[in-house]
Amino acid sequence: MDQSAADSKQEKDSKTLIAYFSRVGNTDFPAGVDAVASASLIVKDGELYGNTQYIATLIQRATDGDLFLIETEEKYPADYDSTDRQGAKESKENSRPKLASHIENMDEYDTVYLGFPNWYYGMPMAVYSFLEEYDFSGKTIIPFVTSGGSGFSDAISEIQSIQSDATVLSEGYKVTHSKVSDVTFEDVEEWINGLNK
Ligand SMILES: Cc1cc2nc3c(=O)[nH]c(=O)nc-3n(C[C@H](O)[C@H](O)[C@H](O)COP(=O)(O)O)c2cc1C
Repeated sequence: MDQSAADSKQEKDSKTLIAYFSRVGNTDFPAGVDAVASASLIVKDGELYGNTQYIATLIQRATDGDLFLIETEEKYPADYDSTDRQGAKESKENSRPKLASHIENMDEYDTVYLGFPNWYYGMPMAVYSFLEEYDFSGKTIIPFVTSGGSGFSDAISEIQSIQSDATVLSEGYKVTHSKVSDVTFEDVEEWINGLNK
């Protein structure tokens, strides 16, 4: 096998997962919810997206990986302030919300993009539930975050301490919620191409 054939075989064998948590997908919104009134929702081409979900879809297009929503058994309230209070309570209690979605074939993935909104200066507790469910030894985890301005807080070192045998890239993608709808496919592609993975 020549080198380019070997490279393309390796590319085919190496599978990418894009796992993300977002308010959209974890909330029972009433039909016709007003995205403009919310800091955490955007509409693109007539589709409603959560901020983190939107970035996740761009990464999916750029990598051709598998998209996976980290979904809790219990939905969060449609009312933003109620979700905010629930997030605060979960964080204070260091809770582990039960997940409704699971990955059967985690062994097949080498690269895992892991996305979340910053909730209370860190990851939503559901992302801890996700990280503690699987063994990421030998895999590369590439974090991305959307936030009101806190960025990752301590999330990257938290991920590394939970999954100490994974390689966790520190050049994660971060964007504040007011700028999410300006992020283009090219922006995300440029970030991915510049990663040292
Ligand atoms: C429960 C809760 C807690 C939050 N805590 C923070 C925070 O500590 N720092 C911050 O910058 N943004 C915080 N935010 C704002 C979100 O990180 C931000 O709006 C994010 O883009 C939402 O992404 P999503 O639409 O994918 O859920 C919080 C939002 C919620 C709902």
